[in-house]
Amino acid sequence: MSARLKFALAVVLCGVFFHAGAAPAVDFDRQVRPILSDNCFACHGPDEKQRMAKLRLDVKEGMFADRGGHPVIIPGDAAASRLFQRIGAKEKQQRMPPPYSERTLTDQQIDLIRKWIDQGATWEMHWAYVAPKRPDAPRVRRPLAGNAMLSFETDGVRVTAALGINAQRDIAAVMYAGDPLKKRLDVVLAAWRRAHRGDEQLVVTGTGALEPTEGVTLAGRLAPADYRALLRRARVFVAAPRREDYGIAPLEALADGCLLVTTPAPGPYPALGLARQLDPRLVSDDLVTALRTALDSPRPGYGERAAALLTPFRRAAVDRTIADDVLPLLLPGCSP
Ligand code: HEC
Repeated sequence: MSARLKFALAVVLCGVFFHAGAAPAVDFDRQVRPILSDNCFACHGPDEKQRMAKLRLDVKEGMFADRGGHPVIIPGDAAASRLFQRIGAKEKQQRMPPPYSERTLTDQQIDLIRKWIDQGATWEMHWAYVAPKRPDAPRVRRPLAGNAMLSFETDGVRVTAALGINAQRDIAAVMYAGDPLKKRLDVVLAAWRRAHRGDEQLVVTGTGALEPTEGVTLAGRLAPADYRALLRRARVFVAAPRREDYGIAPLEALADGCLLVTTPAPGPYPALGLARQLDPRLVSDDLVTALRTALDSPRPGYGERAAALLTPFRRAAVDRTIADDVLPLLLPGCSP
């Protein structure tokens, strides 16, 4: 076999591998919404008088409402999401829909909802409001708020994942501290002080308000391209966000091949479920041990599995961007 043929074959097999590794993305509007509509909207729908538990599942705001710090869906983590706990509950009193409603979900339907949440619980507009998608629709590249996901190029991610975590990764750890309080910069610095060895450096970016200390490099605010280049040189991305902070920085870092070391912050923190799936040893309030584990004995294949897990987020990101950002511009008055 010629070298060129072998290479071509390897590329094809790689493609197959990546394909097989990623579960097909669940389509909210086509697959999930009809289940909710048939089984939940009677009590959690538009009719205020019939509405139970003040829970509304027919609109995005209701589905992802904060509910005093207890949202019913935690994107990326079905097991921790009350909605999933209630539809899968063994005890009759807990189960949704309630037995007295004479509605039941099949195991298949429950499983589909589980997958949808684990894949990031992307909510799309009802098809009636979504104009046909143009393949060359403009990409809006900016961090999205709320439970929004990533926007980054697919090919770059695959390349990064294929490089693995050791190639050219000369920076031990990176932290993004755009808002030092919310990102709990103090917690990360305290952990790093005890965790770092030799000349390992933690690069702190996103903030200028910090005194230089041993083992810590300050990068200040970076342009997006420089920030990405930094992520691609780092072995670990460390985050200890407060409850209300669930930015996409950890997801971007995963996409760029970093190991994610993080505290198990509550709240809708989409990267948390992924981090746990990829390596539960790296999710801990004991950041010192988690950092050492990541730097000394990373799990083989972490980057590849991260790339596979992020696949649904990528497509969803583009869809969401179109639905949330582009369509409202094109069709004013039609936002969800
Ligand atoms: C016949 C009415 C009825 C239907 C249908 C129904 N629910 Fe409920 N739901 C309730 C009532 C009443 C409560 C509040 C009491 C409780 O928590 O058991 C509730 C509570 C909940 C809660 C807990 C809210 C919280 O903050 O703790 C969730 C989650 C939920 N329902 C999800 C669903 C889902 C998902 C469906 C459809 C698969 C559904 N329900 C269908 C009546 C209903």
